[in-house]
Amino acid sequence: MDISEKYNPDFESLLDYLKKNCGCDLTFYKRDSLMRRFQRRMRDLEIDSYTNYLQYLQRHPNEYTTLLDTIFINFSGFFRDRDCWNYLANTIIPQIIANKQPQEKIRVWSAGCAYGQEAYTLLILLVETLGIEQYLQRVQIFATDVDDSALTLARQATYSEDEVVGVPIELLSKYFQKNQQGYVVDPKLRSTIVFGRHNLTINAPMSKIDLLVCRNVLIYLHVKTQASILVRFHFALTNKGFLFLGHAESLMNKEIFTPVSLKHRIYTKGQSLTLADHLLIRPQILPKTVLEPLTTQTLVWQTAFEKSPFPQLAIDAKGYLIVANDQACKLFSIKNSDLGAFVQNLELGRIIKSLALVRQLNRERRALNLQNIEWVLAQSKVFSI
Ligand SMILES: C[S@@+](CC[C@H](N)C(=O)[O-])C[C@H]1O[C@@H](n2cnc3c(N)ncnc32)[C@H](O)[C@@H]1O
Repeated sequence: MDISEKYNPDFESLLDYLKKNCGCDLTFYKRDSLMRRFQRRMRDLEIDSYTNYLQYLQRHPNEYTTLLDTIFINFSGFFRDRDCWNYLANTIIPQIIANKQPQEKIRVWSAGCAYGQEAYTLLILLVETLGIEQYLQRVQIFATDVDDSALTLARQATYSEDEVVGVPIELLSKYFQKNQQGYVVDPKLRSTIVFGRHNLTINAPMSKIDLLVCRNVLIYLHVKTQASILVRFHFALTNKGFLFLGHAESLMNKEIFTPVSLKHRIYTKGQSLTLADHLLIRPQILPKTVLEPLTTQTLVWQTAFEKSPFPQLAIDAKGYLIVANDQACKLFSIKNSDLGAFVQNLELGRIIKSLALVRQLNRERRALNLQNIEWVLAQSKVFSI
C-alpha cells in the first residue's frame, strides 16, 4: 500500500481473505479506486460495511466471480486513440519490419487485452502492412489478461454495431463477417492470436517481444507495482523492441525506457540491466553490505528470475557458477554451497562438458543450442533436452 493512502483495517482484512482463500491478490491495486468498486458491488447487495461484505463472501462462494466482474474494468475499443494507432502503423511497425530479416518472426504482446479489441487492431494493422501471407508466416500475437471471462469473449471475437464503431469502414468489411450476433473477426485470422490468462503482477513475462502493448492497465496499480512490471517488460522486449502505453500512463522507471514519441506513449529500451543485477540475484549467499544498495529494480529482477517456470543459471567466463534459480536448483540438484563452484566439478558439468563451450559463449555472445542431451533424475524420470 502507498503511504499516501488511507489505511482501512476492515478493507485490508477483506483483501487478505481474497488473497488466501480465492487466490486473488488485489493488494497491488490502488486503494481509492479499488474501494469505490467494492462499494459499488456492496450497494447492489445493500451491504453497508466491509466486515459484513466479508461475511457475505464467506457464505456465498460464487460471489467471488461477480465481484471480479465489478473489479476488473474491461472497457476497450478498436483503434482506441486513433492518432496513436496511426503513428504505430506509419512509423513503428515499418521500423520493426526493417529491423528484421525477411523471414524472421515478429512477436507482439497485448497485455491486459480485455475483450480483445486491442489485439485485433494489432492484427489488422500487421496484415495491412505485411500482406496476409507474410502475416500468417511471420507474426505471433499473444493477448493476455487476468480476467478469464473477458478472455472467453475475446476468443469469440463477436462485437456489436456500437463496439465496431472505431473500425474504419473499409477495414470493417475486409476483416469482419456480419451475422445475427453482430460482427465477427474473420475466423482464419482470429485463430492466429493466442489468448491466455496472465497476471502482470505475479507471472513471469513473455520473451523476445518486438512490440508490447499495455494500455490503460497500469494506472490501476500502485506506483511500485507499476515500476516492477515495467522492469519485467524490459526483459520481455528484444533490444530493438517497442513499448506502447496508454495516454493515462506515465513511465515510472524513466532510465530503463527512452521515449520514441511521448505524445503517443511509445518507448524503446533505454539503460540496459547489468551483470551487477545478475550478481545480486541470490541474496542469501551475499554479505549484508552488498545487499543494502538493492534497488526496487534489482529486487524485481531477482523475483522474476527466481519465480520463472524455466530453469535458469549463469556461469561466468571462467566457468564458475554464479547463480541458479529454484527450477534449475531442483533439476540439476544444485545446493547453495555449489554457488561459486567450478561448474565442471558439479553434476551440471555433465552438460557443460568442456570449458571451450563457455569460452565460445563468451566470445560469440549469442545463444548456443545443445541437442540430444539426456538427464536422468533421482526419481528415474528422464528429461531429453
Ligand atoms: C481498461 S482495460 C484495458 C483494455 C485495453 N488494453 C485498452 O486499452 O483498450 C484493463 C484490463 O486490464 C486487465 N487487468 C487488470 N489487472 C491486470 C493484471 N494484474 N494482469 C493482467 N491484466 C490485468 C483487466 O482485466 C482489464 O481487462
